[in-house]
Amino acid sequence: MRRGGRDVERAEPRKSPGAALCLLLLLAGVPLASGQDASKGSIWSGVFTDAQARRGEAAFQSNCAACHGKTLQATNPDAPNLTGPSFSTSWQGKPVADLFALMRSSMPLGAGGSLSDPEYLDIVAYILKFNGYPAGDRELGPDDQMLKQIVIEPKK
Ligand code: HEC
Repeated sequence: MRRGGRDVERAEPRKSPGAALCLLLLLAGVPLASGQDASKGSIWSGVFTDAQARRGEAAFQSNCAACHGKTLQATNPDAPNLTGPSFSTSWQGKPVADLFALMRSSMPLGAGGSLSDPEYLDIVAYILKFNGYPAGDRELGPDDQMLKQIVIEPKK
């Protein structure tokens, strides 16, 4: 009979470690989810379209190639190449917004602002495409917050 009583005492409910584990997983899920959001603006997600880059190529050839070269290798000794190590050194780690702002305020040299914003954005798309970044199904738009989020990441 005493044996029976002991068994009942032992049967007290134990705290489940499962609850704590669930909470941990939930917490871990928070940064994962926001990481997914950020990748929408990643340069690898396709932040311009092929058509936009083609328009940009035309605008580049008529407004920029005289100094920066038809293939983005500068022909004017003062003008930097807009591809290769020169481009990487200047622009890697920086947001697309900076590239756009520089071009718009000071290019073509001495005639900053002489093109429209859409034309500058097209040229940015062309330069990114030329440097190996992928086209996607959305055009690069003038939204400054978006442009600040898109970082010109090192090549994969
Ligand atoms: C008359 C020659 C000339 C023309 C035309 C010209 N640029 Fe430039 N560009 C330069 C020079 C020179 C520099 C370097 C300026 C400096 O260091 O302050 C430069 C710098 C730049 C840079 C910065 C590069 C870096 O790595 O720092 C970009 C981007 C650029 N130009 C884009 C353009 C675009 C886009 C156009 C056409 C809309 C254009 N440029 C037209 C001469 C020119």
